[in-house]
This record gives sequence, C-alpha cells and structure tokens, in this order.
Amino acid sequence: MKRSVFIAGTGNVGKNLLDLIYSGDMPFTVAGIENRRGQITGKHLEKTDVLNFLNSPSEHPEKKSFDELDFDIYVDLRTASKDGKMELETYRKAFEKGADVVSANKSGLANHWQEIMAKKNETGKRMLFEATVAGGLPIFSLLNSSLQGFQCNYFQGIVNLTANYVMRMITEGISFDEACKMAIKEGIGETDMSDDLTGLDSARKAIIISNAIFGQNLRLKDLKYEGIRNSPDKNMRLLVTAGIDEKFTVTSRIESLETGDSFLRLDPMAMSMRMGFVGRSTVTVSEDTDGPVETAGAVLNDIITLA
Ligand SMILES: NC(=O)c1ccc[n+]([C@@H]2O[C@H](COP(=O)([O-])OP(=O)(O)OC[C@H]3O[C@@H](n4cnc5c(N)ncnc54)[C@H](OP(=O)(O)O)[C@@H]3O)[C@@H](O)[C@H]2O)c1
Repeated sequence: MKRSVFIAGTGNVGKNLLDLIYSGDMPFTVAGIENRRGQITGKHLEKTDVLNFLNSPSEHPEKKSFDELDFDIYVDLRTASKDGKMELETYRKAFEKGADVVSANKSGLANHWQEIMAKKNETGKRMLFEATVAGGLPIFSLLNSSLQGFQCNYFQGIVNLTANYVMRMITEGISFDEACKMAIKEGIGETDMSDDLTGLDSARKAIIISNAIFGQNLRLKDLKYEGIRNSPDKNMRLLVTAGIDEKFTVTSRIESLETGDSFLRLDPMAMSMRMGFVGRSTVTVSEDTDGPVETAGAVLNDIITLA
C-alpha cells in the first residue's frame, strides 16, 4: 500500500510541489493539505480537490487536531517561526504518531536540532531536510549517495541568493532600495527580506550544515553572524564556511574573495557550494538560479525517498 503525505503550507513551494505531484504518477498519496486559512483531508485527495482548496482555502476553515490526522509523512512548508518552537512541537507529535518528516522550513532544525534528533531516534523515525540549506541544490542527498565513502571536512557556499544579489547590484551602482525591488521582481526576494539581509537566513543554514554534516549540536544562538554591507566591494559575498581542521569552526559572514575565485564568476542569481573531503578532490556544485520550483523538486525527492 502506498504511504500517505500531509502537506502543511501552500505558498510558493507548496503550490509548486502540488503541481509536480499531480503531474506524474507518485509512489505515495496526498492525505491532507493545510495552510493558515484552512485544511482538507481524505484518504487519497484528487487533483480537483486540491485545486478547489487552493482556490478558496477559507471555505475549509475547520481543522482536525494533529492527533486526528492520518498520514505517514508530514511535509513542513510553513513560514518559519522565529524561535522554532512550533516546528519542534509538530515534529515531536509527528514522530510520536509514527510518521516521518520532510522539511523545507529551517527554523526548527536551526533552533532545536538536538531535541528533534533525540525524538526522531527514540521513535525510530526518519527526517529529511534537503531543501533547508540550498533550496534545490543537492547537498545532503549528494553526500549520502555518491560520496558516502569520504569524510567531508570543509564546506563553503553561497547559500543565500537575496543578500548576495542585493550586494552585487549595489556594487554595480544601483541603490539599495532599487536592488531590493529588483530581487523581488526576479522572484528571488520575498516581500519581507529582513531575514535574508540581516544574515539570519544564512546563519540558520550554517547551523544545519554544522549539525548535519559535521556532527555538531549547535543552536542558532551559538553563532554570531553578519548581514549585508551597505557599501560592499565587488569581491565581497555573504558566505557560510564550516570545517574541521584541528577543531570545528563555522562562520556566516561577508568575506572578500580572491580575484579569480570561481564564486565571483557565477551569475547574480546563482547558488554554489564547494565541499572538501579527506582523501579526494573538492566537489563544487552550482545552479544558475534557485527558486520555489527547484526547492519543491528537492522536497519531492525527499518524499519519494521516504515513500
Ligand atoms: N521559496 C523558496 O525558494 C524556499 C527555499 C528554501 C526553503 N524555503 C522555506 O520553505 C518554507 C515555505 O516557503 P514559501 O516560499 O512557500 O513560503 P510562503 O509562500 O510564504 O508560504 C508559506 C505557507 O505556510 C502557511 N503557513 C504559515 N504558518 C502556518 C501554520 N501555522 N499552519 C499551516 N500553514 C501555515 C501559509 O499559509 P497561508 O497561505 O494561509 O498564509 C502559506 O501557505 C519556508 O519555511 C521557507 O523559508 C523556501
């Protein structure tokens, strides 16, 4: 029997995920969808049920309690909470009722990694979160499939598009306000970009990388991070850098790259990261741009893996 999925959040990523799901034959069924305004559930929701819900979620305001819901995989595509407590509680309850979790939402993992992993391990469930760090650019699935034979000891990446795009436009003589408007128009900036520009989004990603790749148990409050500069020079990028030399270190800050660095040759909307390993050469992965479609693809890959 196919496993069933409950999807929380029907924004940019959620809608693209549903589009992908209903354009193919999936090895799972959709047993529920919700957003802030409403919820629909059913053993196997058809495309028309989903489209009706997306058109008028407020017509389905009644929500079942979490305990009443019936699903095998919980998919978190909700807006990130500031402190990650909402996410922690949801994942705990999901694991306790025997479900696995897929998340694109970073806040729970960045603030409460240890508690989430403890509950996951205690219940013997699984959690995948590929989309949390670099949207659709594969990190964890790459490390956990093609590179399992090598120990990763270094990570450096451009993992926040908005901040780097805005800084780059400023170096080309465009005003800060105009650069922000352009980021929204290009579809990479959210209406409220404060998490990106203050560096919070990159910092959350730095914590997830530290814990997931380097076996740390860090929380967001352990990391001092930096946001964009008002008058950057053209070699500056907001970078997450983590690695083990004698001891583990992680930063999320503006760095000035050496002229000729491959990160400086990327398109303004490109995402890229390089990973160093013990005993083999560095692996660099890039994509020309990243957005909700790419992120939804990473979420779908996680669901299929669990299904
Ligand atoms: N956009 C990307 O490319 C990208 C990349 C990587 C990670 N992410 C992460 O993925 C998540 C979704 O991103 P997005 O761009 O799709 O965001 P979005 O467009 O703002 O959509 C967020 C969705 O979450 C719903 N929601 C918020 N709080 C909820 C709650 N308590 N219960 C149920 N639903 C709730 C909202 O409901 P309403 O529709 O009723 O308001 C909305 O449907 C975020 O955590 C984001 O940081 C996004």
